Amino acid sequence: MTAQIISGTEIAKQLREELKQEIAELKKKYNIVPGLATVLVGSDPASQVYIGSKVKTCEALGIYSERNDLSAEISEEELLALIDRLIKDPKIHGILVQLPLPKHINEANITLAVDPKKDVDGFHPVNVGKLMIGEPDYLPCTPHGIQELLIRSGVKISGAEVVIVGRSNIVGKPLANILLQKKTGANATVTVCHTGSSDIAFHTRRADILIVALGKPKFITADMVKEGAVVIDVGIHRIGKTNEGKSILCGDVDFDMVKEKVKAITPVPGGVGPMTITMLMLNTVRAAKIAAGLT
Ligand SMILES: NC(=O)c1ccc[n+]([C@@H]2O[C@H](COP(=O)([O-])OP(=O)(O)OC[C@H]3O[C@@H](n4cnc5c(N)ncnc54)[C@H](OP(=O)(O)O)[C@@H]3O)[C@@H](O)[C@H]2O)c1
Repeated sequence: MTAQIISGTEIAKQLREELKQEIAELKKKYNIVPGLATVLVGSDPASQVYIGSKVKTCEALGIYSERNDLSAEISEEELLALIDRLIKDPKIHGILVQLPLPKHINEANITLAVDPKKDVDGFHPVNVGKLMIGEPDYLPCTPHGIQELLIRSGVKISGAEVVIVGRSNIVGKPLANILLQKKTGANATVTVCHTGSSDIAFHTRRADILIVALGKPKFITADMVKEGAVVIDVGIHRIGKTNEGKSILCGDVDFDMVKEKVKAITPVPGGVGPMTITMLMLNTVRAAKIAAGLT
């Protein structure tokens, strides 16, 4: 079987085009420019790259962005004061605090301090609760991106046996809640596996849609997957460098072997990754519309 490769790069491109038009219309009709403030504490190279891509994507789409890069020594009080200023700033509709934060800052306090209306990451407990009861303002970016990948690739989610490997608060748990809602693009039977699961392969082999987010390179092998399944690989790992010095990446799935057996699969890179930033942009536009009473 030759698997369909679900291209996150292509689907993210389509979505960004749609967003660009919506942003232009908001400006023309209502003089609204969605605004995103990013907050980065310290100089972690990976976090700097993520923030750089977010700011660049804002520029490309016509979203106003304000970048706040802070020293690793900043106190929790100073960070809270900045968040308070951003909450009061009418130009800013979304606030994104890049995690992880340095150890001396309590992440839970910072997540709680962001106004749920400006919480475009969807991590505030109010937004987590709203998602769970099926009335979300903002869906967290990576799980929302995965749902959109499935919908736009024509995968039937309603009635499907979905198995998710990994129960993190940013991927596995919210994704399970998104896909089990009684809604279009959801309505699946969802199983979530984790380190306490006694026989992971038993579950993964039953999956019509297998979504893997556990953070272990090539953990899912061909024998763990049902013939004709759809596989979404969230993991991303640097496993070496080419002679030219470029990073070699892989996911949590043994792509080369699994692709021979399944109906559709996401690659790494170019699968889930490009969707995450796009969904952040979508949430920022939504935040601007919520602030203006347009939704
Ligand atoms: N592309 C993107 O935009 C994006 C976004 C987020 C994450 N990621 C990637 O996705 C992967 C997962 O990220 P995460 O933040 O969700 O990870 P995480 O917070 O480390 O959580 C991993 C989850 O997998 C489970 N797990 C780990 N080893 C397992 C095993 N051997 N068997 C069964 N379950 C196991 C853990 O179980 P316990 O709960 O029992 O410990 C945990 O629930 C990482 O590679 C990350 O880089 C990519």
